[in-house]
Amino acid sequence: MNRPTRVLVTGAGGQVGVDLVDILAGALPPGASATYSPDDLSIEEDEFEVLGLTHHELDITDRDAVNAALHATRPDVVIHLAAYTAVDQAETDAATCFAVNATGTGNLSDAAHETGAHLIAVSTDYVYDGRKGSAYVETDPTNPLSVYGSSKRDGELLCRPEDTIVRASWVMGVRGKNVVHIIADRATSGGVVRFVNDQTGTVTVASDLARSLVTLARTRPGGVWHVANTGTTTWYDIADYVGRLLGRGDHFATPITTAELSPAPLAHRPERSDLDTTKWRSRFHAMPEWTDGVARLVRDRAQRATP
Ligand SMILES: NC(=O)c1ccc[n+]([C@@H]2O[C@H](COP(=O)([O-])OP(=O)(O)OC[C@H]3O[C@@H](n4cnc5c(N)ncnc54)[C@H](OP(=O)(O)O)[C@@H]3O)[C@@H](O)[C@H]2O)c1
Repeated sequence: MNRPTRVLVTGAGGQVGVDLVDILAGALPPGASATYSPDDLSIEEDEFEVLGLTHHELDITDRDAVNAALHATRPDVVIHLAAYTAVDQAETDAATCFAVNATGTGNLSDAAHETGAHLIAVSTDYVYDGRKGSAYVETDPTNPLSVYGSSKRDGELLCRPEDTIVRASWVMGVRGKNVVHIIADRATSGGVVRFVNDQTGTVTVASDLARSLVTLARTRPGGVWHVANTGTTTWYDIADYVGRLLGRGDHFATPITTAELSPAPLAHRPERSDLDTTKWRSRFHAMPEWTDGVARLVRDRAQRATP
């Protein structure tokens, strides 16, 4: 019998990390699709040996600690999710953001290279400026508008051609204070929301991304991959959809423009950064529709709230 594939996960305490560690262990995390498999394969309980490291357990800005972790554990694959993700805060905290997203990613690529592990590093649609006017393909030039986007782009540049870079966008999972929870809280407490309708993108449900990362850990293709749920949307459309799922009608969500946001967010975000996933779909099954993924998150939240 083959030995299990040893996978080290950085940022294991984050919204994608928690789901990924569950899925690698053969479990179905809350809100995950019971049917989505990019490669038609199921995950056996003993296929992977998982070492999930939280921020507390491994600070990726500490080059020696990263080297020590990889030399001690000798993983076959490193799935790198640790990141500074506070997009607006990063505008006034650039040094920390670059240390984590750029230097930290470089530390992992170097250590993976030295120890013979395959690195899968997760990046973002915010490496694009959103001015293309149509969906982005992997080979489009990057031109980030924010500190966060620049730091993630620099992290990509510190990776090697044999590493796999996954660009995801608008990630939302069952954990963390993401937009679906904020909207659902407002919908169930009788409030209303205003969301921008002039930023277009693709949703990536954390558990669907995690399941896709497992397929990449098996195939280790290298290069850049856009991985996101199917369909393009806006923040307003997400709010309206979540409101309707929770029984709210036409007057729950109001569309506004980015210029109307008050106070104005510190970071500039791309107007249209939806990810073209043709490359993914030509090799693997398409991720579920974003509406399916968001509905799972809302259902899971409702189940947790039910005594
Ligand atoms: N969230 C999105 O909308 C989005 C969109 C596109 C791409 N992505 C990318 O997807 C990946 C996963 O994102 P996510 O949504 O799961 O993010 P998340 O929930 O913010 O998780 C990131 C994790 O990284 C940890 N971390 C921060 N600094 C660290 C350091 N120096 N060393 C080790 N760990 C550190 C954080 O720990 P603490 O909280 O304890 O600091 C947190 O647990 C990231 O690469 C992110 O850039 C996210």
